[in-house]
Amino acid sequence: MERVKIVEVGPRDGLQNEVQAVPTATKLELIARLVAAGCQTIEATAFVSPKWVPQMADHDAVLRALKHDGVSYPVLIPNLKGFEAALAAGAREVAVFAAASETFSQKNINCSMEESLARFAPVMEAAQRSNMKVRGYVSCALGCPYEGDISPQAVAAVARALADMGCYEISLGDTVGLGVPNRVKTLIACVAETIPVQKLAGHFHDTYGMGAANAWAAYEAGVRVFDGSVAGLGGCPYAKGASGNVATEDLVWMFARSGVETGINLQILVECAMWISGQLGRAPSRVAQAMSARGAG
Ligand code: HMG
Ligand code: MG
Repeated sequence: MERVKIVEVGPRDGLQNEVQAVPTATKLELIARLVAAGCQTIEATAFVSPKWVPQMADHDAVLRALKHDGVSYPVLIPNLKGFEAALAAGAREVAVFAAASETFSQKNINCSMEESLARFAPVMEAAQRSNMKVRGYVSCALGCPYEGDISPQAVAAVARALADMGCYEISLGDTVGLGVPNRVKTLIACVAETIPVQKLAGHFHDTYGMGAANAWAAYEAGVRVFDGSVAGLGGCPYAKGASGNVATEDLVWMFARSGVETGINLQILVECAMWISGQLGRAPSRVAQAMSARGAG
């Protein structure tokens, strides 16, 4: 049976944009419920500046509370300071994030695209010394909220730079959900000319409702790793108009119905989606609603 890997990013990408403060205990319960559903890779938090993203200010408490038995908990880091704090808190995997848009890079991490890559060089060296895996993100891979269309070649160049630095996987981020399936296919074909498609992941935001369709287009183009956020939580505080990632339950439903194994129990995941939607007072995803309505959630 065909398999895909799902990277659950709800506790980080999902919660970083919540207006209300989410208690650390709620974040930890969310992670525990995701583990119970069978999620094996859960991006747990971000060691970014609490002045920039106050919602992730409890990163230390979240990471220190997790037991790393059989589940990977990558954490997002923007620089060496974040890496060192993550290492001290027990991180075994980190994710760096660059952008294929100058304006977005400035707004999100206060430096140019080139400066951001230079910042990652000491992070990669330190990660190698600590035997730590590093994942890389390229934001604005299918469009930028400030600059509009971004060429696939520009995305491929940043992805290549991250891969050359030692990132084991490159997640192509459709930060504000501007992608549509045929553009996704063009993008993957272009990036796969320079990086093996096995190293790519799809990170689709669902702003225009294209998340699942885009994931399927990426699947058909050879991608086998997909980021999702339970209940479709999320957005990016420095990307105007960004809404949540494609809901993980949408991905699991789509792949399961297509005969592709994810290793995740959809019913338990839907229960988790309903629970966190209730905690945050937001509407559940379509799949969670449909499954709950028929009594399976
Ligand atoms: P800056 O203000 O230029 O940094 O921010 P600085 O080096 O001048 O430091 C300013 C202050 O921040 C100092 O503290 C530093 O110590 C502190 P002060 O002296 O003022 O008290 N600082 C830190 N504190 C904690 N952890 C750190 C850290 N670094 C510096 N790691 C910086 C530059 C990169 C820090 C800032 O811009 C930042 O934290 N940005 C993060 C923005 C963010 O998290 N965005 C959302 C995640 S990206 C995303 O969602 C996209 C993605 O999902 C893919 C997609 O969808 O496309 C990944
Ligand atoms: Mg994102």
